[in-house]
Amino acid sequence: HQRQQNELIKLHEKAAEIFHHVLLNTQAGEQALSYLKGRGLTEEIIAEFQIGFAPRERILLKKIFENEEVSDELLDASGLMTQRDNGEWLDRFYQRIMFPIRNAQGKIIAFSGRILQTENFDSDKMPKYLNSPETLIFNKRQTLFNYDQAKNEARKEQELTLFEGFMDVIAAWTAGVKNGVASMGTSLTNEQIKMIQRVSNKLLLCYDGDSAGIEATKRALDLLSSETTLELSVARLPDGLDPDDYIGKYGAEEFVRLTKSGRETEFTFKMSYFKRGKNLKNEQERFGYLQEMVKELVKVPSVIEREVYINQIAEEFDISVEAITEEIRGAQQDGH
Ligand code: GTP
Ligand code: MN
Ligand code: MN
Ligand code: MN
Ligand code: MN
Repeated sequence: HQRQQNELIKLHEKAAEIFHHVLLNTQAGEQALSYLKGRGLTEEIIAEFQIGFAPRERILLKKIFENEEVSDELLDASGLMTQRDNGEWLDRFYQRIMFPIRNAQGKIIAFSGRILQTENFDSDKMPKYLNSPETLIFNKRQTLFNYDQAKNEARKEQELTLFEGFMDVIAAWTAGVKNGVASMGTSLTNEQIKMIQRVSNKLLLCYDGDSAGIEATKRALDLLSSETTLELSVARLPDGLDPDDYIGKYGAEEFVRLTKSGRETEFTFKMSYFKRGKNLKNEQERFGYLQEMVKELVKVPSVIEREVYINQIAEEFDISVEAITEEIRGAQQDGH
């Protein structure tokens, strides 16, 4: 297996070089390049992440690998090619902007391709992002985009930042936030959580500011706070924007401000999360909300932090600190 793994990595490294060359130096890559520049990516950042382009003809890798007499077995195992019924090989990725995915050692093990919509290409029925299939070298549950670079930053900053999308990791990088990773388009796995814990004891969640992102933040917080001792915080994006949109609209400095002084704790995030869709003037809904908050207060590990929140809620809802404290004590006993 070790030998085939090395060969597969070599194929991926080669493919990345080719995609990158096509994007930067050929006519086939022109539209993709101007699309990326329109999204604020410089050639420097394109080179840094070795972003590329796979043209629509589906014969780019095919021709090169045929020339180099790569075996059918290896082509098949790579996930980079697909085979027609008649045995003919075709590139899997086409008409896509190609993001190399690296393992913890920085070796390319897969790609994610973003569709490039152009006037004469109808991409309506195609997924926006297409990932490599699982292979001998790629397990998406064990992969975080940009982990190889972010882990070094995390050792300096003592923190990782978790984004939803590749473009968010890259936009944050251009804004100077280089400790960003993204899971592979799915919710966080146990394997990814272990990877995070291996390099940092703090994690900042920075998901999209739409309802999918807010729900994903809630789920991630519940999972991480019950399974780990990571110190968690949240940078919430406003108005349905994702981090990449936000940086485009308000600039790098504002984004950095949001991730530093604009951050929330797990509890303050939950305070606003459980208010969504509730009419707190209605007594029953208000009591329901306060019960949720008591459950959350039980989980706050720091006594000082907890006291701050108790005071805040006591003031906001005009109830005594003693009443809340007693509810917490009751809830703690229920929990044992
Ligand atoms: P842009 O539209 O390029 O800005 O992408 P985005 O990063 O904002 O994407 P979005 O918020 O829609 O999705 C976040 C992440 O989910 C992406 O980076 C992908 O990893 C993943 N994702 C989105 N759409 C698809 C899809 O159609 N298929 C798969 N497999 N993953 C997807
Ligand atoms: Mn999203
Ligand atoms: Mn997004
Ligand atoms: Mn989007
Ligand atoms: Mn986006």
